[in-house]
Amino acid sequence: MAGTRFYVETWGCQMNELDTQRMAGQLMQQGILPTDRPEEADLILLNSCSVREKAAQKAYSRLGEYRLLKRDRPELLIGFCGCVAQQEGEAALRRIEGLDFVVGPARVGELSRIVDRARAGEAVVATGFPEDRDFDLDTISREGTHKGMVTLIEGCNKRCTFCIVPYTRGPERCRSLADVLAEVRHLLAMGFVEIELLGQTVNHWREPGGELDFADLLEAVATVPGVRRLRFLTSYPRDFTSRMVEQVARHENICPYVHLPVQSGSNRMLRLMGRGYEIEAYEALVRELRAARRGLALSTDLIVGFPGETDEDHQATLSLVERIRFAQIFAFKYSPRPGTPATRLSLEPPADEVASRRLQEIFGLQRGIQKELNEELVGRQMEVLVTGWGRDGRSLDGRTPCHRVIHFDAGASGPRPGDLVRVRVEQGLHHSLRGHRVGSGSSPSSPSRRSLAIVP
Ligand code: SAH
Ligand code: F3S
Repeated sequence: MAGTRFYVETWGCQMNELDTQRMAGQLMQQGILPTDRPEEADLILLNSCSVREKAAQKAYSRLGEYRLLKRDRPELLIGFCGCVAQQEGEAALRRIEGLDFVVGPARVGELSRIVDRARAGEAVVATGFPEDRDFDLDTISREGTHKGMVTLIEGCNKRCTFCIVPYTRGPERCRSLADVLAEVRHLLAMGFVEIELLGQTVNHWREPGGELDFADLLEAVATVPGVRRLRFLTSYPRDFTSRMVEQVARHENICPYVHLPVQSGSNRMLRLMGRGYEIEAYEALVRELRAARRGLALSTDLIVGFPGETDEDHQATLSLVERIRFAQIFAFKYSPRPGTPATRLSLEPPADEVASRRLQEIFGLQRGIQKELNEELVGRQMEVLVTGWGRDGRSLDGRTPCHRVIHFDAGASGPRPGDLVRVRVEQGLHHSLRGHRVGSGSSPSSPSRRSLAIVP
């Protein structure tokens, strides 16, 4: 099959991003090379997301477009992957003319064999959650220059009433600490300086059959020599223990940034959403984290327009946003997902225009807060991880330890993506910072503890 090319389109979360890297790696090992032009591909993969209806619908319309390419190239193979594929299973093959195979998230490791079978004419449907799964470190096509992603947990055992993830990614499965550490070392050897630990409830990690928890894992990963930056997502508020907070305080290479989805500021909504915590406990955790780590930035997810949401509930969310002052908010309009418990609630969601207005109110409030928080950083010096060239081709883009985007002048010695450089913040914008590089010389291999001393 040498000389053939694949094209992959990815929707959704970091887990899907990593699944795409795993699929790309397997294909490349088979001699199938990537292309960024679907028209010249012999194999097209659509890695879909089902968390909200819009994304799921998009998957179908994209598959419809790809199918048309078969008119000129009948040998083209089209594979449907990701969460919508898991949900639809065999039905997808009936529903989408021209589709060749279906792969669920838990079967990504089998892609090479699936493609071979599809080439031989079999309509393969590989979904479900088998006990034994293929996972080969060496066949991941790691993308980018700095961030290496490591899965800690697949699936999710929570039953948030709005969420489809437990059905599409299956029950929670934790990887062993030994496997995680081996993958971290592998990434460091490849030159990655930032490690991102992934899981739907990443802080719910437990050593399979053992006693260790996420606090122990954080300690173990943070102390691997060469880990310059350590981030993790998504943290589930109820599972964040004081021992974990202590680790965030203790290791400077753990980024002072936590993504902590709250979903609503109203206890009544949180109960209906089945989140298992109250707003008072969430705020207590935020206080504990902030007391432990100076300059800690928090981001969150919010859902507006959940069934039964009143104006009072919405005001409670606005008031929470005002009290906490998140560095970033990802807010979504509630989208009913098939088979989730929320679709069986006897309560009505607010009218669409009401939900839209509430969403805009949240964005409006957050916009001002974000600008203020960014302006508070002016004058500080930070260690910035260079992530790429700016749009003008001269300046650089990077991330601060608190995960803010910063644009800055490259300076004479021209650091490269993946380098860590010192930058002075000159301006706080709504969604990013601007700065100037101070000093010279990048520090791609010096120990992180020293250079991360002046944060946020
Ligand atoms: N594991 C994460 C969430 C994964 S889904 C957690 O602990 O919260 C990412 C985000 O999408 C969620 O935090 C939620 O805000 C949003 N989301 C999930 N299901 C949704 C739905 N049915 N409608 C709208 N937003 C939803
Ligand atoms: Fe979804 Fe709740 Fe799990 S939002 S991914 S069911 S923690």
